[in-house]
Amino acid sequence: MPELRYDGQVVVVTGAGAGLGKQYAKFFGSRGAKVVVNDLGGTFNGEVGNDQRVAAQVADEIKAAGGIAVPDFNNVEQGEKIIETAIGNFGRIDVLINNAGILRDITLKNMTDKDWDLIHAVHLHGAYKTARAAWPHFRKQRYGRIINTSSASGLFGNFGQSNYASAKVALVGFTETLAKEGAKYNIVANVLVPGAASRLTQTVWTPEMMEVMKPDWVVPIVAVLVHSSNRETGAIFEAAAGHFSKIRWERSGGLLLRPDDTMTAGAVLNGWDKIHDFSKPEYGSGIGDSIGTLERAMKLPPSPPAENITFKNRVVLV
Ligand code: NAI
Repeated sequence: MPELRYDGQVVVVTGAGAGLGKQYAKFFGSRGAKVVVNDLGGTFNGEVGNDQRVAAQVADEIKAAGGIAVPDFNNVEQGEKIIETAIGNFGRIDVLINNAGILRDITLKNMTDKDWDLIHAVHLHGAYKTARAAWPHFRKQRYGRIINTSSASGLFGNFGQSNYASAKVALVGFTETLAKEGAKYNIVANVLVPGAASRLTQTVWTPEMMEVMKPDWVVPIVAVLVHSSNRETGAIFEAAAGHFSKIRWERSGGLLLRPDDTMTAGAVLNGWDKIHDFSKPEYGSGIGDSIGTLERAMKLPPSPPAENITFKNRVVLV
């Protein structure tokens, strides 16, 4: 099988000075892409950050191996500057991998506004800023590939991570929306839920886990998702320890009540089993699917396609 190539494409990887991002950057540098190696060189909790050697070293490694790369030292909170580095040096951007991240684990009881805001600023606002700046270029050239990095913590919640989990799950809604808004411009956007040994995980995982969670083992699915051949968009993929899978929303068959004397708390309690019954699941992937479910439940005639749904109809759903 021929190897996947990215010749002539410009790939921006945020947080590419270490961990997962470093592996992505080196991979794309070895497959013909021009790589913007972004990293502000910060501590794992975002407290201090201006070690330019972190990004510079990775860019140097790519160049020493015969690739093309430029370091970028901007904070993702000023994501537009990172995209300017791509445009200024290479004249275009094809792939954006939002990967930069920090942790400030703390229970809600002890959370400060700084713990909350900084996590959201880096993970969510940072991804917004880079994507917002790349978007006009993607639209104009009718081509773009985006990966936003989420976490199992975001999908399922995790003790001591309400700040991180909320920012990470917000990236799911953000990405799924970009996939829809970008569809007609050949802009593909997906969510990655990785697992890899890095400084973010070294304090929580055992040495045995660290051994099998190689960051470079996450690279193959990123390579596929941002390749020009990929049409899959608006989806969530997990990758860790050589295991690759897809995650999707599942809706139970549900309980249908009517606005008569059956629509009571007691009726909901009686129908609890039906609300939990996943024997006939639905896998919605858009607001139109939710409307379809309600229409079937209420036996209404079908609505127009999702893009024609008026604001008024959406309000009815709320
Ligand atoms: P890492 O700490 O090894 O690398 C993250 C890099 O991002 C660092 O080099 C850091 O300097 C840089 N960075 C941090 N804030 C930045 C900012 N504001 N602007 C620019 N660069 C910044 O972490 P790792 O493990 O490689 O994580 C990468 C991404 O994957 C993160 O978004 C993380 O939340 C996510 N993730 C990682 C998991 C894992 O198992 N390692 C699990 C789930 C999610």
